[in-house]
Amino acid sequence: MLKTAIHKIYLTLMATVVRFMPPDVFTLFAGESSSKQLARHIANHGSRRLLIVSDKPLVDLGLITPIVEECKGLGIECQVFDGVLPDPTFNIVDDGLEVFKSHNADAVLAIGGGSSIDTGKTIASAATNGFEPRKLAGYFKVKIPPIPLYAIPTTSGTGSEVTKGAVIADSDTHLKAYVADPKMVPLAVALDPGLLTGMPPAITAATGMDALTHAIEAYISVWCNPRCERYALSAIKMIFAQLPTAYSEGSNIAAREQLSLAACYAGLAINDTNIGNVHALAHQLGRVYSTPHGLANAIVLPYVLETMIDACGPRLASLARELSFSDSRDDNEAAKVFISKVVELNSILNIPTGLDKLARSDFGDIAKAATKEGSLLPVPRLMNKSEFDSVLERCLLPS
Ligand SMILES: [Fe+2]
Repeated sequence: MLKTAIHKIYLTLMATVVRFMPPDVFTLFAGESSSKQLARHIANHGSRRLLIVSDKPLVDLGLITPIVEECKGLGIECQVFDGVLPDPTFNIVDDGLEVFKSHNADAVLAIGGGSSIDTGKTIASAATNGFEPRKLAGYFKVKIPPIPLYAIPTTSGTGSEVTKGAVIADSDTHLKAYVADPKMVPLAVALDPGLLTGMPPAITAATGMDALTHAIEAYISVWCNPRCERYALSAIKMIFAQLPTAYSEGSNIAAREQLSLAACYAGLAINDTNIGNVHALAHQLGRVYSTPHGLANAIVLPYVLETMIDACGPRLASLARELSFSDSRDDNEAAKVFISKVVELNSILNIPTGLDKLARSDFGDIAKAATKEGSLLPVPRLMNKSEFDSVLERCLLPS
């Protein structure tokens, strides 16, 4: 009771802060060759020395080359920093900042998955705030707007191209820090499906389920407002409709385009709310077992929704009706149909029902940390340690 009351007071205070945050304003280019449109936009805005932030595999695949060539043709000198690794650390941001300084860059273009975009956002923010990225960890620490910042995502999942923050890990402890400020939303974004067709099926599945989790957690959040609801609902509809196609036919441009828009909408939805108990648990699985983020979300999503069905049942029922999964007037019944559709989608995408690395001896640590993280989020209701334990029990695979 006391925990619930404290949680309600905390959410009321935070909701007041969120209400006064400026709206997301950015330019969106979507469709084939939209990355070239973005290059023209960057040139028109006067940038002449661009730092491109990406990772080595993408550079080696030659994905960056056409964009660099386009920029060169427009009179923009590009320098590529390809040192981004998964779960980027502040040391990687430091390395990127050194390249930024030596190139005397006047803008940053992040090309890649969430790791590259988060690194690009932090480099651009540190460039105008004393070149001290560690001092940006936390909320609202980006006092001066970042150097002009642009993004081209090459996965359809994190929504980092439109979200108000970045996740950067401490270089020694590898504990993740949030660098969160509305000023970090890129000025312009290109969703170019031509860059997505080479994504392997397993990554398409995991990143797509990450986007679905963002949209569902936003839709059931106690902070969900009409704008968030529209973005979340659109994203959920598009992901259910297009993810199986993108998974089985990677080169299907139409499916790729719809999914990249869906991930973007899901990112906009969580800008108004936040993530929830699914992410609170998935983060711990990533921390303890290095389970890829989207995969961890996909596995625990149906179990966590079932656990909270007493609190989010009517919202899940509303989704079931909006997606024509159920016309039942019974919320509980319709909510269960929606959850069964999530399970069915996981099955189509060959996502396992549990984790082979999961050990009962870790349950205490994982459940405790998930409870703590969930207590800071606008969730439909708090989940306690024994509820997270029960979810973990369901994630054990038969040996
Ligand atoms: Fe996520």
